Amino acid sequence: MRVLVTGANGLVGGRLVRLLATRGHEVFGLGRGPSRASDFGAAKYTSIDLGNHEALTQALQEIRADVVINCAAMTDVDGCERDPSGAWAANVEGVATLARSARALDSHLVHVSTDYVFDGEAGPYDVDAVPNPRGVYALSKHAGEEAVRALCPKDRWTIARTAVVYGWPSTGKNNFGSWLVDALGSGKQVKLFADQWVSPSHADNVCQMLTELAERRLAGTWHTSGAEVVDRVTFGRKLCERFGFDPALIVPSRMADVNLPSPRPAKSGLVVARTTDSLAAKPLSLDASLARFFDEVQGSRT
Ligand SMILES: NC(=O)c1ccc[n+]([C@@H]2O[C@H](COP(=O)([O-])OP(=O)(O)OC[C@H]3O[C@@H](n4cnc5c(N)ncnc54)[C@H](OP(=O)(O)O)[C@@H]3O)[C@@H](O)[C@H]2O)c1
Repeated sequence: MRVLVTGANGLVGGRLVRLLATRGHEVFGLGRGPSRASDFGAAKYTSIDLGNHEALTQALQEIRADVVINCAAMTDVDGCERDPSGAWAANVEGVATLARSARALDSHLVHVSTDYVFDGEAGPYDVDAVPNPRGVYALSKHAGEEAVRALCPKDRWTIARTAVVYGWPSTGKNNFGSWLVDALGSGKQVKLFADQWVSPSHADNVCQMLTELAERRLAGTWHTSGAEVVDRVTFGRKLCERFGFDPALIVPSRMADVNLPSPRPAKSGLVVARTTDSLAAKPLSLDASLARFFDEVQGSRT
């Protein structure tokens, strides 16, 4: 298929481009600035800011993809709080432009979203749980979901929520896993929240699920995270076990005691039953996910 990936310089988008290309698809990428994460050859990468409605619409018309996969987003949660206009432009208006163009061009839109659409009072959340976003990032991501639902024909949109995505190497900015490996590997203590529950997700696993959703044009809302919900301390200790780091370097702390610029869901996590039942690409267990991460880190050092 002819597939367009936005956020092609990002953690998920960069890997997704490479995976789709290895599966024989004709892949186009949109990103900001020069291509950094994948090799597109001369013609298939375009630098566009999602907030530039005209340029984005024109690029979509020129590419005429069968499937558009939107991995671009303003993902700095506290940065969104400081710059709500930027967050709205990328996470809502940019998504609405993609959705309108996808409708006009008969493309299927796969839109990547987040567990942050939920308030974190009573997770883990299944695909049909009612969102209650808190904070600008969460509000903008939820509004982006709603733009997709409202603007695309109902059999031609897919929303794929994920959570705490990690992989090695990072794409310039650290992810939760790469930050832990850097810090713990050099013997530094890390403070981790014992009262925040999440669904850690290896980036390659997320990309496999996104690829299958795109190839099969499976519509509706899906949870494409790792299979297990754990608090961040447990994740850190499991990572220590796998990597041979000293678990005493992990200092448990409480999110409830910290005054963060943006609120974050505490008892979050995603129920992946629909994905597990329906896709060949299954959400990985935490052990399998960390094993893949370990191999990745080792591979980069040999
Ligand atoms: N990583 C996680 O833990 C996590 C968790 C839950 C959900 N998600 C969702 O997963 C998706 C992919 O995230 P990711 O982890 O790959 O994040 P990422 O590494 O931050 O990638 C996002 C990409 O979007 C690009 N972008 C941001 N604003 C843009 C704009 N206005 N115009 C054009 N491009 C823009 C960024 O460009 P620059 O590189 O130039 O900044 C970046 O390359 C997002 O929808 C995110 O909300 C991620």
